[in-house]
Amino acid sequence: MSRVAESERSIVVGAAPEGARDAQSAAHAVREMFTAIAPRYDLLNHVLSFNVDRLWWRRTARTFAQILAQSDCRILDLCCGTGDMTFALRKQAENSGPQILGADFSHAMLQRAQSKSLDKAAENGTRATPRWIEADALRLPFPDQHFSLVTSAFGFRNLADYDAGLREIVRVLKNGGECGILDFGEPRGLMGRLYRIYFKQVLPRVGTMISGVRGPYTYLPSSVERFPEPPEMLERMRRAGFREASWTPYTLGIAGLYRGKK
Ligand SMILES: C[S@@+](CC[C@H](N)C(=O)[O-])C[C@H]1O[C@@H](n2cnc3c(N)ncnc32)[C@H](O)[C@@H]1O
Repeated sequence: MSRVAESERSIVVGAAPEGARDAQSAAHAVREMFTAIAPRYDLLNHVLSFNVDRLWWRRTARTFAQILAQSDCRILDLCCGTGDMTFALRKQAENSGPQILGADFSHAMLQRAQSKSLDKAAENGTRATPRWIEADALRLPFPDQHFSLVTSAFGFRNLADYDAGLREIVRVLKNGGECGILDFGEPRGLMGRLYRIYFKQVLPRVGTMISGVRGPYTYLPSSVERFPEPPEMLERMRRAGFREASWTPYTLGIAGLYRGKK
């Protein structure tokens, strides 16, 4: 039976960092956490994922190649952090592509995205750089039906209310627009057991050591454990108004891409 039973529908399901009492304090704690690790975020990402994260961003961008080839549309990368998913979309779109926006509620993460943007613009000459906007994914400052594609990489899981997040994505998408949510999963079997040892025991220690901040890298495995499994997430997407909802596992299910159409 589905975990999203009728009687459960009023319960808010979302990120719950240690000490959070409600959705507001959860969002506040998440923002503080990412602000604290912003200076080391990229380094940690690449070290802890053995650089596989780059492949996941690229694969996600390739999935939406058709939309990214259109020059007259708008793309939003939600919870963009330091911008690597946004840059992968920009690269896939090439020079003539659409307008691409990265949004995040941590100013420190966006500052790093902006400075990487300037470096990339200097390297790549004419390729248009993404625009960055400080915004809460649960209250986006955009009109209805504004975007042809909304993506989010490893950010959606951190929202304090997943259903509200999905509804907000549906609101800003045009009819026929698409959504791609890339996030961690929990692989099964022997691989899953080995992965859990790494994810729960090795990663928090290395993350804490390199970042110098204790909370975020113990929060990461617990947030993945708390995140709905694919069947539940797909049902939540359908309920929010998506059709053709699907999940594609990446790297044996360590991560995966949720897709849906408005
Ligand atoms: C794990 S990082 C992912 C960054 C980037 N997308 C990537 O793939 O590396 C999660 C990001 O989500 C942002 N975030 C979490 N909740 C948010 C919210 N409600 N609104 C906007 N950004 C949020 C955090 O500030 C953080 O930068």
